Amino acid sequence: MGELKRFEGRTVLVTGASSGIGRATARALAAEGANVVLGGRRRERLDEVVRGIEAAGGAAFAVTGDVRDEATGPAWVAAALARFGGLDGLVNAAGVLGNGSVMDTTTAEWRRVMDANVDGLFFMTRAAAGALKTRKGAIVNVASVAGGVRPYPGLASYCVSKAAVDMITRCSALDLAPFGVRVNAISPGVVVTELHTVTGAVADYPGFLERGKTTHPIGRVGNVEEVASLILFLLADGAGWITGANVSIDGGRALASAR
Ligand SMILES: NC(=O)c1ccc[n+]([C@@H]2O[C@H](COP(=O)([O-])OP(=O)(O)OC[C@H]3O[C@@H](n4cnc5c(N)ncnc54)[C@H](OP(=O)(O)O)[C@@H]3O)[C@@H](O)[C@H]2O)c1
Repeated sequence: MGELKRFEGRTVLVTGASSGIGRATARALAAEGANVVLGGRRRERLDEVVRGIEAAGGAAFAVTGDVRDEATGPAWVAAALARFGGLDGLVNAAGVLGNGSVMDTTTAEWRRVMDANVDGLFFMTRAAAGALKTRKGAIVNVASVAGGVRPYPGLASYCVSKAAVDMITRCSALDLAPFGVRVNAISPGVVVTELHTVTGAVADYPGFLERGKTTHPIGRVGNVEEVASLILFLLADGAGWITGANVSIDGGRALASAR
């Protein structure tokens, strides 16, 4: 008989699975035996990830929708239950980057970032809570070093949204602890994904990554596999006494001076 994988028989819903940290997490979970439900807006991108997981012998399927719509969470959870019979984990990785200071951020830009990073994450958490209580599952929220950990200039909407993720994490951890559901956050430094380029928030991306070598004391920016590894640790039974934590994964970025 083969060795039992860490997430064998578990079902995990990953938002933002069409790219970056969410996609790497979905792949890592599937490789460790989980049934994975991949959520995002871009159907083709999600299907491509699902095909890769299936080709490697894993079980996954894609659900599409916008996390800013409060109907999306219930639909994705219902799809997970219908296909896999329960839900053991939720990874809230969907998110967007905003740019601008408190002086020049437009109302529309402020709303865009809050709706995706705060409201969307709240809607997903609320929608999944019932199913997670049944299985005593776990949630991991992707916050940021630019948030509850520390502010950065010219990044007002994003920093405020990620500080809110930190507090949603702690409120959820308290509310769900009596039901055996753990909720934790992670705060990455700069990780190579599409986040900084997809909306043009960072004009000179190569230069930005180059600067990352000095702004992160460990001497480099991060990669998505490293972040996925931490998310899996926090989801797994080995982290059974960890809840309400916000774990930095940033090469020491939080310790260094502002950009
Ligand atoms: N990369 C970094 O340096 C870094 C550092 C700290 C924290 N983070 C956080 O890590 C998380 C993942 O970001 P990433 O770096 O992996 O960026 P990414 O490559 O741009 O991925 C973002 C994901 O979020 C999804 N998404 C965005 N808005 C959505 C919406 N309204 N509804 C549904 N899905 C939505 C995108 O999918 P669709 O476009 O298909 O919808 C995509 O899959 C974010 O919360 C980000 O703030 C990233």
